[in-house]
Amino acid sequence: MTRHPPRTTWLEISCSALTNNLRQLRSRLSHTTRLMAVIKANAYGHGAAETSRTLQRAGADRFGVATLMEAVELRAAGIERPILVLGYTPAWQAAEALAHDITLTVIDLETAAALGQEAATQGATIQVHVKVNTGMNRLGVRPGAVPAFIAALRDLPGIEIEGIFTHFATSDEADKQHADAQFISFQQLLAALERNGLRPRIAHAANSAALLTMPYTHLDMARSGIALYGLDPDMEQCALPPGFQPALAWKSLVTQVADLAPSEAVSYGREFIADRPMRVAVLPVGYADGFPRRPHHWGSVLLHGQPAPILGRVCMDQTIVDVTAIEATVGCVRLGDEATIIGRQGEAFISAEAASQRIGTNNYDIVSRILARVPRLYVE
Ligand SMILES: Cc1ncc(COP(=O)(O)O)c(C=O)c1O
Repeated sequence: MTRHPPRTTWLEISCSALTNNLRQLRSRLSHTTRLMAVIKANAYGHGAAETSRTLQRAGADRFGVATLMEAVELRAAGIERPILVLGYTPAWQAAEALAHDITLTVIDLETAAALGQEAATQGATIQVHVKVNTGMNRLGVRPGAVPAFIAALRDLPGIEIEGIFTHFATSDEADKQHADAQFISFQQLLAALERNGLRPRIAHAANSAALLTMPYTHLDMARSGIALYGLDPDMEQCALPPGFQPALAWKSLVTQVADLAPSEAVSYGREFIADRPMRVAVLPVGYADGFPRRPHHWGSVLLHGQPAPILGRVCMDQTIVDVTAIEATVGCVRLGDEATIIGRQGEAFISAEAASQRIGTNNYDIVSRILARVPRLYVE
């Protein structure tokens, strides 16, 4: 390694993988369909600033985030394209949204009126997208209430309705019945709005899974997150097609190698007790980096291209791994050797998907929980 990370645990983010994945997605869309890069939650752990700059260079039309804070962070990083806050923004953030030219999602008239009021006092308009609840039952206006909602929004000073969108609950499943029902409901709504001259300019529904497996849902824009990072929308039911590349690798350097005598225990609570002479290595990574302590174990990391099983409890900043078998077969493990937590080492590979299965969650959770104190290194 030529460039030293500021810490002995770090992420390597491949900019060419991000660019490649964006192109893969773009190649599936018509020329009239925009592509929104969803980079909420620190770009799913990949680092919002550099990831969004890379994707802007690669041609992402727009950016989607969860909160206004995330949107402002993107502007500070030099993102000039439109940014939509996908979550709820309270009226007291209107001035900040206006100052940074951020588009907001609206789901209730009271907040929208207050947002518009702030814009109008500044002699400006705030762009909004209406969120429709077609069956995810999270955020959104029920389809039946949307025409009246849009008609009322139109009368508000300071508000310009640019878009309308919905979100699928099950587009990553093999059975598309529920997702199709959601889409039909959305399309019927769009048709009704069109008939009454109320259809906003940009209608969008597709996330990564729908972009890849339900091309009829592309509409005026698709919003992709997980596939941009080269990760499966669902490992079993919606794996990425060939051509995508995982952009993230998580690495750590061995900080100590030691012997363990039979009956000696490892880490807090003495959960692991050696039943034979062992060699163990310490890695400077822990749950305060987002390396999960519970509910289950990550299992192993890779050292010298071999699995090194985690022993005992993961601590806040450190983890102990078993290198006995590696030393017996491949050779001596030394201070400074590189361990891979996610990624490839020789023939061996730990994917975010495999890790997520071990700890009983999904790959979104695995990467987005990697905390800011783990430095991100951007490589070609
Ligand atoms: C509203 C909305 N749109 C799009 C996405 C992107 O989804 P995915 O990462 O599955 O592509 C998300 C992420 O969960 C979302 O909440």
